[in-house]
Amino acid sequence: MKVLLLGVTGNVGSRMLPALLAHKHQVVGYVRSPAKIAPEAKSKLDSIVVGSASDSAAIKAAILSHNCDAVVNAAGLASMTGWSSQGEFPAIFAAVVQAILDAGRERGGAPIRCWLMSGFGIMDSLKRPYLLLDYLPLFPIHKRNYQLIKSQPTDALAWSLFCANAMSPKHETPQFPPSADTSANNLVVKADTPPAWVEKYRKVPLIGNYLNVLAQAQGYAAVLENCVDVIAADLEKGLESEWIGKRVAVKEKSKVN
Ligand SMILES: NC(=O)c1ccc[n+]([C@@H]2O[C@H](COP(=O)([O-])OP(=O)(O)OC[C@H]3O[C@@H](n4cnc5c(N)ncnc54)[C@H](OP(=O)(O)O)[C@@H]3O)[C@@H](O)[C@H]2O)c1
Repeated sequence: MKVLLLGVTGNVGSRMLPALLAHKHQVVGYVRSPAKIAPEAKSKLDSIVVGSASDSAAIKAAILSHNCDAVVNAAGLASMTGWSSQGEFPAIFAAVVQAILDAGRERGGAPIRCWLMSGFGIMDSLKRPYLLLDYLPLFPIHKRNYQLIKSQPTDALAWSLFCANAMSPKHETPQFPPSADTSANNLVVKADTPPAWVEKYRKVPLIGNYLNVLAQAQGYAAVLENCVDVIAADLEKGLESEWIGKRVAVKEKSKVN
């Protein structure tokens, strides 16, 4: 696929690039600071578009003018709490969604496939209709973003949200090609509820669900290069992906009992 990648100078986006290339995608980088793109990454990008990730019209123009079939958003950074300013991230998320919708409508035909970085807290808890974030209110903006995107029909916007907990790079710098010790095969991947989530502390009155989330969440920290490989591999499936219209979380296989 030809993929528009936003955030290629960031922690996630810089590792997403080698993963996408390893899965034979062509990548158009969308950045606000082209001078920050590492020389090796620059030489591997199909082209570079300079613009703000909160500029919906510019993102739409990039999708259409480069004839992209997919978009991966790794631009912006969610604030950990709801007390501080949310910064530009909500505007970025909304602009990217709008741009993909508008580009898809303008082009006609099949919807554009997209993966957007989100957060672990929007996965369902075992007590419906509550999300994990309702028990551990960190990175609260992801809930608003999820509400925005879930109202979009998937025949207009073929979306998936990557709901990672903390992701740590295994290698200090992006590896071209990705090193053999990192792969989606190291992960269990699941939609809606986190993989291998178990109901603990069910019988503890009042605080049982809080304890459940607190006790398990940190076990979902994952290797960043494994995570980006999930997205890059899935994009090979195009609109046949099982993850369209889903929130997707991962767990390292080594941490599954
Ligand atoms: N890292 C994790 O463990 C983790 C876990 C869960 C979810 N996530 C989510 O993954 C996403 C990426 O995280 P990250 O760790 O890669 O963050 P990061 O290292 O701070 O990278 C953010 C990227 O966004 C770009 N950006 C910010 N504002 C922009 C704008 N207005 N226009 C264009 N580009 C803009 C930055 O470009 P500049 O270089 O120009 O600043 C940079 O490339 C975030 O949504 C984050 O919440 C991350």
